[in-house]
Amino acid sequence: MGTRLLPVMKIGFVGAGNMAAAMARGWASAERRPDRMLFCDAGSGRAAALAAEVGGEAVDSLAELGRRSDAVVLAVKPGSLEIVAEQLDREARAVLSVLAATPLKTLRERFPGVPVLRAMPTVATEIHGGVICHTPVPADEVESGEPMLALVGELGRLVEVSDELMDAATAIVCTPAYLAVVVQNIAEAGAEAGLDPELSYELVVETFAGTIELLRRYDPVTVRTAVASPGGSTEAGLQALADAGAADAFRRAVEASLRKMRG
Ligand SMILES: NC(=O)c1ccc[n+]([C@@H]2O[C@H](COP(=O)([O-])OP(=O)(O)OC[C@H]3O[C@@H](n4cnc5c(N)ncnc54)[C@H](OP(=O)(O)O)[C@@H]3O)[C@@H](O)[C@H]2O)c1
Repeated sequence: MGTRLLPVMKIGFVGAGNMAAAMARGWASAERRPDRMLFCDAGSGRAAALAAEVGGEAVDSLAELGRRSDAVVLAVKPGSLEIVAEQLDREARAVLSVLAATPLKTLRERFPGVPVLRAMPTVATEIHGGVICHTPVPADEVESGEPMLALVGELGRLVEVSDELMDAATAIVCTPAYLAVVVQNIAEAGAEAGLDPELSYELVVETFAGTIELLRRYDPVTVRTAVASPGGSTEAGLQALADAGAADAFRRAVEASLRKMRG
C-alpha cells in the first residue's frame, strides 16, 4: 500500500529530544505520515540533526514553527510548557501534548481556544510498537482531533484514557525503562556465568520477545508455572527474586513515578 496523506499535513515539533525523535522516526517510516515535519529546539542543534535524518526542516523560532504547522507536538519537558507557550506566540492552530503530568486544564489555560489533545506515547513509536494512551477527542474538536489521532495511530496502538487516569497510565508506560533494567541485569549475570556478553544479551532479548508473545496468549501465572517446575532451577531463581523483594520493587517504582508526577 502506498503512502496516504491525512488532513493534518504539517506537523511542527516543539522540542527535538528523545520523544520527538522517536515519533518523527516512526512517522518517517509509516504508511501514512505528515507531508512535512518541522522541528525547533532550544539551541542544542538536535532539531537540525533530526530534520536531516527524517527529511524534515529545522526552523529558528517557535512562532515560525506554529505559523507553518497545522498542528504542533509539544515534546519539551513539562517545566518548559509556560515558556514554549509564550514563544509560540498564539500561532499554534492545534496542539498535541505528550508532556507527562500535565493535565488538559493546564494545557487549555496555556493555549486558550486552541484544540488540544493529550497523548502518552513511548519511545517504541519509533518502530510503530507499543501503546499510545490519549485523551478522548472532544465533540467540538473533532475536525482537528480525529485526523491528528489517525496520524498518531500510525505510531502504535491507540488506547483512550481519561485525563484523570493519564498519570497512572504514564507510570505504567515507563515500562520500557524498567524492562531495560531487567534485560541488562540478566544479561550481565549470564556473562558473569561465562557466556560471551553479546551472546548473553541476545539470548535475553530474544527470550523476552518470545515471552511477550506468550503473555499475549496466557496470563503471567500460567507462563511462570510452565517454566518453573516444582523444585527446579527456575523455581530457585524465582525464590531468590522473591527474597530480594522484586515484586515490591516494581510496585515501588510505579508509586515513586506517580508521586513525582503529582509533585
Ligand atoms: N522520553 C520518553 O520516553 C517519554 C515518553 C512519553 C512522554 N514523554 C514526554 O516527552 C517530553 C519530552 O521528553 P524527552 O525525553 O524527549 O526530553 P528531552 O530529550 O530532554 O527533549 C526536550 C527537548 O525540548 C527542547 N526544548 C526545551 N525548551 C525549548 C524551547 N523553549 N523551544 C524549543 N525547544 C525546547 C530541548 O531542546 P535542546 O535539544 O536544545 O535542549 C529538547 O530538544 C516530556 O514532557 C516527557 O514527559 C517522554
